[in-house]
Amino acid sequence: MKSIRAFAPATVANVCCGFDILGFAVDHPGDEVKLTLRDDELVQVVSIEGDNGKLPREAEKNTASVAILSFLNAIGSKQGVDIELKKNLPLGSGMGSSAASGVAALVAINELLGNPLTREQLVPHAMEAERIACGSAHADNVAPSLLGGFVLVRDYHPLDVIKVNAAENLFCALIHPHLELKTEDSRKVLRHSVSLKDTITQSGNIAGLMLGLTKPDYSLIGRSLKDVIAEPIRAAFIPGFDVMRNVAIEAGALGFGISGSGPTVFALTETFEKANTVAKAVQHEFEKRQLSADAFVSQVNQHGAYVIPHSKGEG
Ligand code: HSE
Repeated sequence: MKSIRAFAPATVANVCCGFDILGFAVDHPGDEVKLTLRDDELVQVVSIEGDNGKLPREAEKNTASVAILSFLNAIGSKQGVDIELKKNLPLGSGMGSSAASGVAALVAINELLGNPLTREQLVPHAMEAERIACGSAHADNVAPSLLGGFVLVRDYHPLDVIKVNAAENLFCALIHPHLELKTEDSRKVLRHSVSLKDTITQSGNIAGLMLGLTKPDYSLIGRSLKDVIAEPIRAAFIPGFDVMRNVAIEAGALGFGISGSGPTVFALTETFEKANTVAKAVQHEFEKRQLSADAFVSQVNQHGAYVIPHSKGEG
């Protein structure tokens, strides 16, 4: 029986000023998928661990199977497969949980079938997983989870995904309060039009962030990590958000913001030690508000999802 396991990392979408167009991957945590080829055409989810029974098991509703079905359709294959999903990422956290399951599934099936598609070519199939998870096929989680590092989605029509040649010495603190916020819901609250003034501010910041990342210029990165589009509305879902930003900056963060659609918050730093200090300080702020929170500290990941070594052919 042919089987394989793959891991896909959590991601921080938006990175403050890049709503739906920028994201980066972290080393950990992430989701794991085990696939076993079948000798018929059935694609099925056989088990999910770590979701407290919350995720759909039906193949046409689960992110891992939806991504695989889209991929098989694109390459004209009728291969059947059993999917075992190990969720390490909390649901509705803003850490790219649905993206990671879809991406791990795609990297595994692509490997099992001899890598007919490149990582870039897998992006649209992972976006189908996002569409099924939250009704919007955004790519700012799936693209960095697939490619690693910072990834810019310059356009969606046609899709133009570019890996940013960013400074490698960047560290991320992710602090996840134990609240669940569905991406679908935190998209619904957003305004559908943006003023000219806010467009100018946001454009300046995204351009500054791109330059800061590639130069690299850490002070410019810090000055550019600002969002005038989604954050002012979504911050209301995160108790103490504005206080936490000040605490994070005082503790050494270059910048601080909402990870994806929240409620997880993130900070970028120049060193691992600073990321640790920031994570503890922000975690403490959540605790002061009677919210327990998990903290994850990691370097910005450069390689994205991977096949777990020696998992090929495991029973
Ligand atoms: N760009 C998306 C949003 C990311 O902010 O809604 C969701 O994780």
